Amino acid sequence: MPTVAVVILAAGDGSRMKSALSKVLHFAAGKPIVAHVVDAARGADAAKVVLVVPPAYESIRAAIGEDVAYEVQDPPRGTGDAARCGLRALGEDVGLVLIVNGDGPCIQAETLRAMLAARGDADGVFLTVQRDDPTGYGRVVRDSDGSLQKIVEESDCDDEQRQLREVNAGVYLFDAKVLATALAALSPDNAQGELYLTDALEVIRQQGSRVALYQHDDIDEVQGVNTRAELARAEETLRQRNVTALMSAGVTIRNPDTVFVDTDVSVGPDTTIYPGVTLEAGAEIGGGCTLYPNVRIARSKLGDGVVVLDGSVIEDAMVDDNASLGPYARLRPGAHVCVGAKVGNFVEMKKTTLGPGSKAGHLTYLGDADIGAGANIGAGTITCNYDGKNKHRTEIGDDAFIGSNTALVAPVRVGSGAYIGAGSTITKDVPDKSLGVARGRQIVKEGWAARKTGDED
Ligand code: UD1
Ligand code: CA
Repeated sequence: MPTVAVVILAAGDGSRMKSALSKVLHFAAGKPIVAHVVDAARGADAAKVVLVVPPAYESIRAAIGEDVAYEVQDPPRGTGDAARCGLRALGEDVGLVLIVNGDGPCIQAETLRAMLAARGDADGVFLTVQRDDPTGYGRVVRDSDGSLQKIVEESDCDDEQRQLREVNAGVYLFDAKVLATALAALSPDNAQGELYLTDALEVIRQQGSRVALYQHDDIDEVQGVNTRAELARAEETLRQRNVTALMSAGVTIRNPDTVFVDTDVSVGPDTTIYPGVTLEAGAEIGGGCTLYPNVRIARSKLGDGVVVLDGSVIEDAMVDDNASLGPYARLRPGAHVCVGAKVGNFVEMKKTTLGPGSKAGHLTYLGDADIGAGANIGAGTITCNYDGKNKHRTEIGDDAFIGSNTALVAPVRVGSGAYIGAGSTITKDVPDKSLGVARGRQIVKEGWAARKTGDED
């Protein structure tokens, strides 16, 4: 097979999004629209991927990185002109070029590979789908023998053409040299005054080369995103795809319609996911876990057999095997719950390690703390980690017992096996195996209440 390159068109102004952000940078299922297209392009085994971008493309570059080439289109004069820019970035050795709209995040690598495999002797191939509602798409006009006559954009359609259901999906494969010649012949003689890439197919056909239509039956895969409503629909397609893939991989999902899974999420087999769970990009969940309703997990790694009870939020955190969290636990960046540890109701953790088998069961804030194994953190324990200027660490040794409602004023250390009396405000280190108590002594005045009310007997 000749050398293949992919050119992704991402320089349009996307005005229908009504956004300050470039259209292709809007997120769908955890990453920018165009990042999904780049993934598909990489999966097509292309020698080179070129992104055609607007002059101010730093944010696109920051999102996509350096292993694609960038070619600026200035000004955006239509998809035909964008394709021309893309070709500029290709070497002489490139024989075939796939051109893909950058605003279709659901496109899959297999489809691009299938187009390459089905090309035969055609110099131009493009993907079409039948849509019940073709609104917004270029209509495919065929000759009586079924071959392509032309593609007509909606704004250029007459009434009859507007009724056509077969549309151009915005995914093309060309012989690079034939395309270059065809693009040179385009004119902006249309309703939008642009150079249309779609016209290149008609030109190629008129020049006597063969143009093939690659009919695809998955309309969702090739939906373009021009508006926020279309963005929501495309994201729904990706969500469904991701949820279905998890189920195929052995994950039980109760009521899949309510579960949101970004792309770039992994879940091990025999994990059960309850309704309303959100797994954002970078969530890595082990096998045999249970995620109860309304849990949200982002950029975090959970081991095997972890139980996360209802309403918990986990971001940039790590949870080891057989730990349990929630309900209503919050793990913030840098939280690490070690094997078999338990984080209970309304507990918040940040930059804190809770050692193996340790427990923080109720109503607690653990920030900037290192807690050993087998420790028991009583209800209402607070690490006072912030003095108004700086953050300080709290250290709690193995098997320490922190009584309920303790304030640990950092920096402070509670030694291994030490005890803290309930209700203490601890400002000084407590050595190993010692007891620290810091609270007002209780006084009892017997009969006091009766004396106060005067009904002594
Ligand atoms: C385009 C097709 C239409 C097809 C539809 C599929 C043309 C003329 N029309 O229409 O037949 O049914 O896609 O979704 O191609 N872009 C540039 N530079 C430009 C203009 C656009 O890079 O000057 C990029 C856009 O960023 C976008 C892509 O090309 O990613 C498609 O452009 P868009 O304006 O969305 O075309 P559609 O009107 O959707
Ligand atoms: Ca579009």
